Amino acid sequence: MSNNALLQVRNLKLYFRTNNGPVQAVDDLSFDLHKGQTLAIVGESGCGKTSLTRALLRLLPRNVHTYSGQIILDGVDVMQYSDEQFRKEVRWVKMATVPQASMNSLNPVIRIEDQIAEPLLAHDRTMTKKQAAKRAAEVFSIVGLPLDFLQRYPFELSGGMRQRATIAMALVTNPEVVILDEPSSALDLLTQANLMNVLKKIKHDFDTTYILITHDIGTASELADEIAVMYAGQMVENCSAKYFYTDAHHPYSRKLMASVPTLREDKELEFIPGQPPSLINPPTGCRFAARCEKKFGKCSEEPNTKKLPNGQTVKCWLYEDLEGKLNA
Ligand SMILES: Nc1ncnc2c1ncn2[C@@H]1O[C@H](COP(=O)(O)OP(=O)(O)O)[C@@H](O)[C@H]1O
Ligand SMILES: [Mg+2]
Repeated sequence: MSNNALLQVRNLKLYFRTNNGPVQAVDDLSFDLHKGQTLAIVGESGCGKTSLTRALLRLLPRNVHTYSGQIILDGVDVMQYSDEQFRKEVRWVKMATVPQASMNSLNPVIRIEDQIAEPLLAHDRTMTKKQAAKRAAEVFSIVGLPLDFLQRYPFELSGGMRQRATIAMALVTNPEVVILDEPSSALDLLTQANLMNVLKKIKHDFDTTYILITHDIGTASELADEIAVMYAGQMVENCSAKYFYTDAHHPYSRKLMASVPTLREDKELEFIPGQPPSLINPPTGCRFAARCEKKFGKCSEEPNTKKLPNGQTVKCWLYEDLEGKLNA
């Protein structure tokens, strides 16, 4: 991992308190993200992807059990910030999100323009309503929406248009990192393809840095430079998107890849036998072992994350002999 990355996440943990014990939703995640790059985070439902978004943006529910690690943005560990400083300087300002199912979370009784302008007015007291409206119009055209729709209410827009409006909302403050949580999963295939094209164009024109969260490797590979695979709250592999199909090493990554055609129809992964483990008291060894065809004796212990010579990382005992350990 190089240190000129825009975002460096180290040992990030987010556990939730429940009556049955803590849920280890994000368990010791580390990764780098460079300016202008897209990191896709892929994995089955329930593996902690949305919790990762919450951890990065400190959008925490009341039942937090553990929240720790480092989130180094532009060289500063923003985990050290107070809640107030984080709200003023980080969330929506430097890192914004298009939350999961956000197209259905627009306020039905507020015109689109006012909803898009809201993050600007909330974060910059010197901004006038007129300036905010001007910027709202700018981002509206960036996402390819006709300007007259700014004056409309959410119900007057199609699902795809509402999704673009929520992307406009995330872009309005010109954040350094945009986190997209399953941006296309509720859309039909054609609308999904259009949306991916919009995201690609924005990336190209503005050098936007994205974290793209998806359960669909097909979607991921369209936009991503890097693909990180999450399993049961942990990152099990991080690989260049270009080489993912040929070079992904982790048995779970390989299983995910085999599942692309099914995923394109937006189904959950049905054909990897078994289920991910409960994140309350997960197995102490490799969390994928129970479903892994390649498991052997060592897998009852937790594998280290190995860094391969090409920079790829993999958390699996099969690669123990490859040189260089990430955490060394
Ligand atoms: N507030 C919460 N309290 C308890 N458990 C939670 C809470 N939020 C999420 N979880 C659990 O954390 C795990 C990861 O969930 P989530 O991050 O939504 O996964 P994904 O987005 O990959 O589908 C799941 O087991 C989920 O039930
Ligand atoms: Mg989710």
